[in-house]
Amino acid sequence: MTKIIHRSLRGSLPFAVSAKGITITDRDGKVYIDASGGAAVSCLGHQHPEVLAAMHAQIDRVAYAHTGFFTTEVAEELAETLIADALPGIGHVYLVSGGSEAVEAALKMARQYFVETGEPDRSVFIGRRQSYHGNTLGALAVGGNEWRRKQFAPILIDVGRVSPCYEYRDRREGESPEQYSERLATELDAKILELGSKRVIAFVAEPIVGATMGAVPPTPGYFRRVREVCDRHGVLFIADEVMCGMGRTGTLHALEQEGISPDLMTIAKGLGGGYQPVGAVLASTKIIDAFKRGSGMFQHGHTYIGHAVGAAAALAVQRIIKRDGLLDKVKADGAYFGVALRKALGNHPFVGDIRGRGLFWGVELVEDRATKRAFDPALKLNAKIKAEAMQRGLMCYPMGGTIDGVHGDHVLLAPPFIARRSELDEIVARLAAAIHSGTASLKRAA
Ligand SMILES: Cc1ncc(COP(=O)(O)O)c(C=O)c1O
Repeated sequence: MTKIIHRSLRGSLPFAVSAKGITITDRDGKVYIDASGGAAVSCLGHQHPEVLAAMHAQIDRVAYAHTGFFTTEVAEELAETLIADALPGIGHVYLVSGGSEAVEAALKMARQYFVETGEPDRSVFIGRRQSYHGNTLGALAVGGNEWRRKQFAPILIDVGRVSPCYEYRDRREGESPEQYSERLATELDAKILELGSKRVIAFVAEPIVGATMGAVPPTPGYFRRVREVCDRHGVLFIADEVMCGMGRTGTLHALEQEGISPDLMTIAKGLGGGYQPVGAVLASTKIIDAFKRGSGMFQHGHTYIGHAVGAAAALAVQRIIKRDGLLDKVKADGAYFGVALRKALGNHPFVGDIRGRGLFWGVELVEDRATKRAFDPALKLNAKIKAEAMQRGLMCYPMGGTIDGVHGDHVLLAPPFIARRSELDEIVARLAAAIHSGTASLKRAA
């Protein structure tokens, strides 16, 4: 029996024994296509020889040097690269070991900024319902994933909450996408006023909602209006691009497509592509200049920040993405993938919505397309589809609670950027088969 506290303490997992390109092989020799990149992580697929070589070379030079004593060339080079490609106003990098750590650091940076600049009364964050920012206590608090938060709610900081941008369900009849964006911006404005415009530190949002709702992009103008509202009240904007960033949507940063910059941006997953646990906060010059003028430090730190091998992996991954023109490939193949998904599933009686950008797509399942009624959560449709997909050698990322943390099911797809079109076709075929038999088994049982 395993001594590991796995995610589920019931059942057992296959053992992954090897991986290559877009596949992972288990101990019984079964091969799985990694159509979700794990959880939108493996952007270059598995065992990319150049990333492995860069990591090996770094291990031979220096594997670890505590950041209280040293910096390393590789970490400095990674920071230079990230800043050269960052959105306007972003000038500094804080390297951590994952997404939750990045979010925690961003929250603390935002708070410290107001202490440094003489506004210590700012103490409240605003997040959106149906969002996910990580599982550590601060990140869990700003996140609006009700299922993940529920039992821990009594020990989480209070956070103001506004609606997500969820066009499929929330845009009203007769309301244009732009009017819907405007309505949501007005809601944010009202929430800031309700909490006290001099008390709010920052608004935190995923530019494209990931695991909680299944690749939900914003409506036109939404983030531009969010930026204006934040600026009007002196509130910072933290963009959580841990899942949707680093090329996943066809541009290095998802916000690039919205035409605005955040004050702080969190990145992880695709930064190191799964080769090492690495994440980062990209911080605006405005914030770090305030620290420099004030205390001269960011009061934070972990043992493994700026890890040399993590930096080597991330640097190699980012150089390959650039050299091989993979962002253009994500754009073109992402459009191809979207068409293929719609062709295979667009008329399926239990598919309500197919949405996404780049190689980041979500399929929302409904019992009734006309009313958008979700399946009974007790049926655990998302778990059934996951099992059906795994049986067919397909890793995808089905989740429940799409609508409110309890109701709704979706499947998230995030194939590696290197996937060939024939492989994308195979993913669609296996997913369609898994959805057909997952939903058919429910109907048979009914
Ligand atoms: C948007 C977002 N933020 C933060 C996190 C937390 O990242 P990690 O699991 O690396 O701590 C995730 C993880 O899925 C995420 O999707």
